[in-house]
Amino acid sequence: MNITSSELAQAADAAVDAAIRPLDLAVVLPTFNERKNVATMIERLEKALEGIAWEAIFVDDNSPDGTSDEARRLSQVDPRVRCIQRIGRRGLASAAIEGMCSTGAPVVAVMDADHQHDPALLPQMLEAIKSGEYDLAYASRFAEGASTEAWGRPDRVKASGLANKIANKVTGVELTDPMSGFFMLPTETLRADAHRLSGVGFKILLDILATVDRPLRVKEFPLNFAARAEGESKLDQTVVFEFLVGLYDKWLGRIIPTRFALFGTVGALGVLVQLGALWALLHLVFAERFVYGNWSESTTFNTANTLAAVIAMTFNFVLNNELTYSDKRLRGFGPMMRGWAQFGVTCSLGLLTNVGSAAVLKTIGFHDIVAVVTGIILGSVWNFALSSKFVWGK
Ligand code: GDD
Ligand code: MN
Repeated sequence: MNITSSELAQAADAAVDAAIRPLDLAVVLPTFNERKNVATMIERLEKALEGIAWEAIFVDDNSPDGTSDEARRLSQVDPRVRCIQRIGRRGLASAAIEGMCSTGAPVVAVMDADHQHDPALLPQMLEAIKSGEYDLAYASRFAEGASTEAWGRPDRVKASGLANKIANKVTGVELTDPMSGFFMLPTETLRADAHRLSGVGFKILLDILATVDRPLRVKEFPLNFAARAEGESKLDQTVVFEFLVGLYDKWLGRIIPTRFALFGTVGALGVLVQLGALWALLHLVFAERFVYGNWSESTTFNTANTLAAVIAMTFNFVLNNELTYSDKRLRGFGPMMRGWAQFGVTCSLGLLTNVGSAAVLKTIGFHDIVAVVTGIILGSVWNFALSSKFVWGK
């Protein structure tokens, strides 16, 4: 930890400042691999928030690049900087919630730590909240006067546009940018409903809007959404997907847990993949002129079906790795191969449970359909439990 003398001088000022004034505002900054953005972020907050007693709370999911270390290094000399380092957890929304619940400040803001959000908006947002006229202030990329030019991602602008329309229907509040990750509200409003937030994915503002029962009075600020300063986005491919998952979690997550629903959906797709692969293998690869004559029809069928099952299993493994367990995603050749093999074993055990329980039910006199469906459900639950623990259990 190298601390320069100018940082030390700054620290002395900050300490005096913090010691004699009650906090006005906490700024929560969820981070994952943002080490290079941390110090510059504090400098910008310092400039933007002159005359306001603030603290910045980095909520870091144990980033491999050492973001937490950097935040702690700064907090040593500046008591306004705090760091929550979460171990074994991932997720922007849950990080934001934890950060917001950890402050004593009466008002709390959430913003990205990658400089895409302009902290110069914070004082105006704070004014709006302190006036008592608004329950929530947020920065919109699509409000009159906003811009997303520097963003350089026209596809995402469009994706957001569509998702926004659905979101407005769901929450009943008309906002130009309900997916925004930059907002401010009285801490008490958040705390009162924090236990009901889903915390899944990264649509935290949407989650708040959909959860708080009374209609919130919202003040919108146009945002010039900047390009990211350092590092890379973690949310790129999954905007729309995460959004749908978030909606599901909100509505049905307590009845059938979100992860299990995803696992089941992937499994159902796997059935289609197996059927498709079997058809393709029989008609294209093992076509009569190649094989029949040497192999019997049943050998051909069984070989093709075994291959089709392995293809489907591989498809399920990849999709579950990308979507169902995206927060614990296995990466790299070695871990992927090991995960694939383990998944093969858990699938086989799931299949035994499936077929076995159906056989038992049928023997004791249940209708075929009841036996088969129960077998599928039991097999899936077992498969889900095993792979959650052994394949993606860390
Ligand atoms: N603690 C934690 N855990 N922080 C995370 C995680 C995570 O799993 N994933 C991302 N972050 C942090 C990043 O480090 C960054 O400070 C902030 O959350 C935003 O992440 P980006 O990866 O930069 O997101 P983006 O720029 O692609 O997405 C932006 O647009 C979305 C709407 O399209 C953000 O503003 C989102 O908040 C917004 O919902
Ligand atoms: Mn970003």
